[in-house]
Amino acid sequence: MSLTETGVDHYAARVNPQWSRLLSLLGMNVSYERCLGSELFTSSGRRILDFLSGYCVHNVGHNHAAVVDALREELARCGPVMLQSHVSELAGELAQRLCGLARGKLSKVFFANSGSEGVETAIKFARAYTGRDGLLCAERAFHGLTCGALSLMDGAYWRKGFGNLLPETAVVPFGDLEALERQLSWRKFAAFFVEPVQSEGGVRLAPPDYLPQAQDLCRRYGSLLVLDEVQTGMYRTGTFLAAHHFGVEPDMVVLAKALSGGLVPVGALLMSEAVSDAVFSSLKRAVVHACTFGENSLAMRAGLATLDVLEDENLGERGAALGALLRRRLTAALAPYEMVRAVRGAGMLSGIEFREPRQLRLRVAFETFRRIHPGMFGQVLVMRMFRDHGILTQICGNHFMVLKAAPPLVADEEKIEQFVEAIRETVDLVHNSSTFWSDALGLARRVAKV
Ligand SMILES: Cc1ncc(COP(=O)(O)O)c(C=O)c1O
Repeated sequence: MSLTETGVDHYAARVNPQWSRLLSLLGMNVSYERCLGSELFTSSGRRILDFLSGYCVHNVGHNHAAVVDALREELARCGPVMLQSHVSELAGELAQRLCGLARGKLSKVFFANSGSEGVETAIKFARAYTGRDGLLCAERAFHGLTCGALSLMDGAYWRKGFGNLLPETAVVPFGDLEALERQLSWRKFAAFFVEPVQSEGGVRLAPPDYLPQAQDLCRRYGSLLVLDEVQTGMYRTGTFLAAHHFGVEPDMVVLAKALSGGLVPVGALLMSEAVSDAVFSSLKRAVVHACTFGENSLAMRAGLATLDVLEDENLGERGAALGALLRRRLTAALAPYEMVRAVRGAGMLSGIEFREPRQLRLRVAFETFRRIHPGMFGQVLVMRMFRDHGILTQICGNHFMVLKAAPPLVADEEKIEQFVEAIRETVDLVHNSSTFWSDALGLARRVAKV
């Protein structure tokens, strides 16, 4: 290694060279100096507008002053951390606040370090409560990449090469109650895991009656209903939980990402008393499920400060109004373009779904890309939004034809308008200029070389 090598070079050498290469190919391997609110500032002086929020981590915006101050204070007070032999007051306070906001049966909390770990916890607790092993999930779901969570995902890309996962899992089409009942009626499933809005699955919203009816079916056949609200929780869709839009009372809810203001790893499983009691059922079993960093004081303090910000700044309502504006403006601006199939979403979680073009000229180019990689078209959209307009976004991990728009809830109308104009220009380029397609072919050639 030479003295001029930077952390970015070391990352490529020591951490994940392919990730580094992919970002470089897309022209997105930039170095960020400061990130505030919904803006990211690079070391070369560019301002990037964040319309991804780290996959719904930054609901209160990057480095919110109140969360940063709370963390500074927590460090300065030199309080108890990771004693593993005391009851964390901060965890108690945060659990109390979360249960108050979640309502329904959700009256107990287990704190973990990530969304996946929250899902793993839900798997164990559902099994303990029901005495059943089976697990049911929905097509195109994303629940995390640890072995248990991955067992609840049908995406071949994520599973390939990692061997056999949990046995006795089954997948049903999202939104299909008949298929759900057929599976549940075997009475072998501990729980049905589902996202109220499938974020990586293409920003697909559960049909209005789906979740309440799924809940009834789960009760009828003795399974638990687990909502994965890792992306949709913490006011992302307007209400504290997306469950609140649908009038459903899940037995468990998984939260993570935005819970600690985007600054400290965290995860939480909210559950009914009965489920919690099934695991922590006696003194002997007091630590039968636990994790070292789960209730760490930084995550708990950040969580409390984040809830204060979300409430004081009324970010749920603000996000709901801005998100609705965004979808109205996108629907109008993109109406003339044949490749735009739909604009949909809830609160500040929106998706633009594209479709194959009908015009022969576009179809030939589109098919060429698809043969190279099914995600190529969307990835070039992402690249152009970043390069030409300074906007960070992504396509959905399990639905490559959907571009996500999920800015921090603190974004404003001006930024919404900037995004709408940028995507309109990019989509116009797709339809009316050969540059979009030739760029993509250039990218494909570069990919083939590396
Ligand atoms: C809906 C959903 N569930 C679970 C997870 C896993 O969370 P983590 O990456 O914190 O393990 C994710 C991650 O993106 C997610 O989007």
